[in-house]
Amino acid sequence: MTDQTPVCRRLVDRTAVVTGAGSGIGLATAHRLASEGAHVVCADIDEVAGKAAAEETGGLFVQVDVTDSDQVEALYRTAFDTYGSVDIAFNNAGISPPEDDSILTTGLDAWKRVQEVNLTSVYLCCKHVLPYMRRQFERTGRGGSIVNTASFVAVLGAATSQISYTASKGGVLAMSRELGVQFAREGIRVNALCPGPVNTPLLKELFAKDPERAARRLVHVPVGRFAEPEEIAAAVAFLASDDSSFVNAAEFLVDGGIAGAYVTPM
Ligand SMILES: NC(=O)c1ccc[n+]([C@@H]2O[C@H](COP(=O)([O-])OP(=O)(O)OC[C@H]3O[C@@H](n4cnc5c(N)ncnc54)[C@H](O)[C@@H]3O)[C@@H](O)[C@H]2O)c1
Repeated sequence: MTDQTPVCRRLVDRTAVVTGAGSGIGLATAHRLASEGAHVVCADIDEVAGKAAAEETGGLFVQVDVTDSDQVEALYRTAFDTYGSVDIAFNNAGISPPEDDSILTTGLDAWKRVQEVNLTSVYLCCKHVLPYMRRQFERTGRGGSIVNTASFVAVLGAATSQISYTASKGGVLAMSRELGVQFAREGIRVNALCPGPVNTPLLKELFAKDPERAARRLVHVPVGRFAEPEEIAAAVAFLASDDSSFVNAAEFLVDGGIAGAYVTPM
């Protein structure tokens, strides 16, 4: 048991598919959903990291490139064939490569790659998981919960631009809203999770090298620190569970107040 271990078991007998489960937010979420009783399918392009996540959470690893329609279709089929339902889809895999920068310097290849991994993937995951949830609703009256990872940059502009990343997350936000509205009466909720900056190894390394860069960002965070992955995972568990039964088509900010801030405390 750790301080983060939840006492609640809201997801017993539910099956959750987590993309990007090998690292960061996805990994923390796989742990959290498993600890709440869910069967967790850990999907990742990285075989080593994905397998490790599945072992740690007692779940199933499926290697998948989320930009490939056939592989995504097979992912949900495997989840359903193994556990008999797909109740939760956390569509979270994403990239932010250094070639994606200011619009003035970002080339078309970098633009397209980020759109594929961050936005087309969410379209594919929703497209292929929805039929399982719709059928389940018809059969049992229980649909499902889809949580798509957007970002706080979907609602706020940054002068330190990653133009394709920001545009892709805006797309995830708008698509999630629309799907949440379209499928609401079939027992399916679709929400866009908008995390603020998270204390991942990459971010830590970047800011250790360049403290001024960290300070420039931290000044905008009312709580004065970045999020821990477990804090984002806790929000996903809430959105996945029936505790959020009236939360749908939402822009669900988990950002320490960044998007609400004008002047922050000294
Ligand atoms: N870290 C942050 O500060 C932050 C803030 C807001 C939003 N987000 C978003 O949260 C999500 C997760 O971010 P993270 O920081 O945990 O990232 P991460 O790099 O730690 O993990 C991403 C995982 O996705 C996997 N992945 C990448 N491309 C894939 C593909 N084509 N197919 C399948 N798997 C693939 C990677 O192998 C990796 O395991 C991303 O969508 C990111 O944009 C992150």
